[in-house]
Amino acid sequence: MHNTVKITDDIIYVGASDRRIALFENAYPIPQGMSYNSYVVLDDKTTLLDTVDWSCGRQFMDNLVYALGSRTLDNIVINHMEPDHCSTLGLVLDRFPNVKIYGTAKVSALIKQFCGRDVQDAFVPVKDQDTLNTGVHTFKFITAPMVHWPEVMVTLDVAAKILFSADAFGTFGALSGNLYSDETDHWTAGFAEVRRYYSNIVGKYGNNVQMLLKKLAGAELDLIAPLHGPVLRGDLDKYISYYDNWSKYIPEDDSIVIFSASIYGGTENASEILASKLAEAGAKNVKLYDVSGQHYSYLVGEAFRCGTIVFASSTQDMNLFSEMEFLMTELKAKNLSCRKVAIIENGSWAPVAGKSMRAKLEELKDITIVEPVVSLRSTPDEDAVYQLEELARNILL
Ligand SMILES: Cc1cc2nc3c(=O)[nH]c(=O)nc-3n(C[C@H](O)[C@H](O)[C@H](O)COP(=O)(O)O)c2cc1C
Ligand SMILES: [Fe+2]
Ligand SMILES: [Fe+2]
Repeated sequence: MHNTVKITDDIIYVGASDRRIALFENAYPIPQGMSYNSYVVLDDKTTLLDTVDWSCGRQFMDNLVYALGSRTLDNIVINHMEPDHCSTLGLVLDRFPNVKIYGTAKVSALIKQFCGRDVQDAFVPVKDQDTLNTGVHTFKFITAPMVHWPEVMVTLDVAAKILFSADAFGTFGALSGNLYSDETDHWTAGFAEVRRYYSNIVGKYGNNVQMLLKKLAGAELDLIAPLHGPVLRGDLDKYISYYDNWSKYIPEDDSIVIFSASIYGGTENASEILASKLAEAGAKNVKLYDVSGQHYSYLVGEAFRCGTIVFASSTQDMNLFSEMEFLMTELKAKNLSCRKVAIIENGSWAPVAGKSMRAKLEELKDITIVEPVVSLRSTPDEDAVYQLEELARNILL
């Protein structure tokens, strides 16, 4: 049965949510599910903006057919050709064989690769700032290469003041009836997921996000309609300023996070002592995570939030503890930069974790390593405690 939401008299939400999926992109835990958004605009010509994941195909087709009523579908705008949005494109093409497909030039090759179809006759390639008029509505296409994938664009409905923003401005989590961000806990309990989504899905492409934000500067917007998560309503400037800072890799504040990788508890002990020393010296809201107990995507989110990151790791087989190595590889992949960092290493006979962590951190841009690097032998001794106290003082300088 259809389950649509009217955004305006002629713009209808036809997306759907999946609560059964455990891992988005088979990588990111999504305990609250995932939404795949899609929108129909009923004008002189009818237009569908993106489709949904295969898991939501049945709900989506019910929604689409209901939204169109007795009308056919004239246009599809493909902002993003990743399968979480396009695996149901074939269903739409089968049902509406005369539809015109609008997308950047790279889209038609991706349709061939993912759907096995040659859509040359139906395909209308668009360039940056091209427009499509469908009657009352004029859609302006704004290319956004690598704001997740190379073919991405966003679409501005100029009259309705709605930005269909593809993956940008999205978040993890299914929708539960309330379509708009200001009807949910999006800015409060939900915000950590917004940050986790940005940092893990889009975080690597800060420069590309910057280019997109520059193109959008001055656009009048009432709503931002992303492909995942609620439609953003209210506080849009605040939202955009978070994107602006994140994409420049500027931390949200000077909070401190400690990532601890410990086999038997010695490194963890030192991490906790450091946290206490920081608190004693006046630091607020210090966070300490055991890297083995948290999926890395949550830690990447925390790294994007905090101005100071402490990496504490035991040595394992003449290398870093493997979970820490993985986390640091991910942080590099996301281009994390502009941070104060500190290092605590541990090893029982030949510690090398500190050297490895330093080498990895030196690959990042605008990183300041706060001294001293604390080197433990199995468990912290009095001297280590003294050094941890000094490190806490130096972090807060
Ligand atoms: C599988 C394994 C490999 C290890 N390899 C090294 C090593 O190469 N060099 C070293 O100094 N210590 C090595 N150790 C010892 C640990 O680094 C040390 O016991 C640990 O750092 C103590 O801190 P923890 O209690 O935080 O785990 C290894 C320990 C294990 C379990
Ligand atoms: Fe994507
Ligand atoms: Fe997506």
